Amino acid sequence: MDKILQSTNPNEVGKASGVTVTNDGATILKSIPVENPSAKILVNISRTQDDEVGDGTTTVVVLAGELLREAERLVSQKIHPQTIIAGWRKAIDVAVNSLNECSNDNSDNPELFRQDLLNIARTTLCSKIVAVELDYFSEMCVDAVLRLNGQPIEMIQIIKKLGGQLKDSFLDDGFILDKEFGVGQNKCLINPRVLIANTPMDTDKIKIMGAKVRTSSVTKVAEIEAAEKRKMKNKVLKILNHDIDLFINRQLIYNYPEEIMTDAGVSTIEHADFEGVERLALVLGSEIVSTFDHPELVNFGTCERVEEVMIGESKAIKFIGVPKGEACTIVLRGSSQHIIAEAERSVHDALCVLSQTVITKRTVLGGGASEIYMSLKVEELARITPGKQALAIEGFARALRCIPTILADNGGYDASELVSQLRSAHSHGNIHMGLDMNKGTIGDMRELRVYESLKSKSQSLISAHEAAEMILRVDDIIRAAPRQRQDPRMH
Ligand SMILES: Nc1ncnc2c1ncn2[C@@H]1O[C@H](COP(=O)(O)OP(=O)(O)OP(=O)(O)O)[C@@H](O)[C@H]1O
Ligand SMILES: [Mg+2]
Repeated sequence: MDKILQSTNPNEVGKASGVTVTNDGATILKSIPVENPSAKILVNISRTQDDEVGDGTTTVVVLAGELLREAERLVSQKIHPQTIIAGWRKAIDVAVNSLNECSNDNSDNPELFRQDLLNIARTTLCSKIVAVELDYFSEMCVDAVLRLNGQPIEMIQIIKKLGGQLKDSFLDDGFILDKEFGVGQNKCLINPRVLIANTPMDTDKIKIMGAKVRTSSVTKVAEIEAAEKRKMKNKVLKILNHDIDLFINRQLIYNYPEEIMTDAGVSTIEHADFEGVERLALVLGSEIVSTFDHPELVNFGTCERVEEVMIGESKAIKFIGVPKGEACTIVLRGSSQHIIAEAERSVHDALCVLSQTVITKRTVLGGGASEIYMSLKVEELARITPGKQALAIEGFARALRCIPTILADNGGYDASELVSQLRSAHSHGNIHMGLDMNKGTIGDMRELRVYESLKSKSQSLISAHEAAEMILRVDDIIRAAPRQRQDPRMH
């Protein structure tokens, strides 16, 4: 189920901007204030998971929580935390090895590998809002990542346009900037010379507005204004010296400079957002300049065509045929801000996982299949381990089984029935069996196409274990007052 987060910021209470609807574990945990220091550790691992792989941010926290629950039970049976930790260490090795064992690599067959990627995208997206158009969005994410050719996913521009419905979202092979040209300028440029800048066009004005100037008459004020205008003009002339067709500034350009540029036949785009500009510079192969004294040293950007396009009812600017052919844009449409924002988070999760998988290549089965597989291997280890450590190892296996239990619970099914069926299926060698969340039975995950990336699964397993062990090592929380500092002024 999704969660609604309501901001407690007094400026946002009661406003639409203060509301987030999400199902992304990291986003939820990031937004809620937690007091308990161990809870903070859990929030932190979910963030790390988000940064490292993007998906599995809920799984990692759930698993760490279950490990701690097991530890609590064992500690209450007078088993020392060190014994538990030693048992867990053996268990995690077996779990990670068996996960590697049941993973698959289809990267030598492009067609099969694309299917793998599609399945991973489907699994990541199917619990999210975009699940209504699952196949469409999965294809879109896979196409975007395959275009990248190993480049970082920052090359993918995501823009959000309110209106239409989720299905109207699309992948475009050009680079789209959510901005407009200045008034009365050329709106279609062929092979333009592009200068990307981050410079204030009005510094001097701010200086004058901030400073007090005493004058004897109104004419003097007019003189100052004229001087100010001259300075602006000088700067614009310097920029025009670069012999460019298109000037893009991250900051505002203002009317007067825009006018001069329009007269000189240069198109302008002002106030382009920060990430957009960085990405644009990357894909056009140019640099972002802020001084204009040496035109000969500047790297200009270019592409085959720049033109104004319509997305829904609003205008945007499209760069076609950029030198870095990998660039592309995902345009997200939706009927409310909240839907688009959640769609963006989901698409971002999928893109992260996919770009990881393109590198690491291996896949495992989802839907609880790999957790049950690991838990059986860990149980085998428990059987041959002498002493109390065996109890800790058993606990580890139980914690792993909690993932399918919770999945079944969340789907509204009889969890203990399903999980015991799964165990028996796996014990009989049907290691591809997992939860079929549509029918409420167990099913072959290969047929249901529920795949996950090995990297994401093993990362969440390792982080959950590390965090649980770290908390288990703690036997007391001590509230320390901050170190008293001596005021240097006292001496
Ligand atoms: N169609 C499906 N059938 C069965 N299990 C599924 C299906 N789709 C996903 N799963 C399982 O659901 C779990 C993922 O759930 P979910 O995406 O809500 O959480 P997460 O990936 O851990 O965190 P988040 O997506 O919030 O970062 C995985 O264990 C996956 O195997
Ligand atoms: Mg997920």
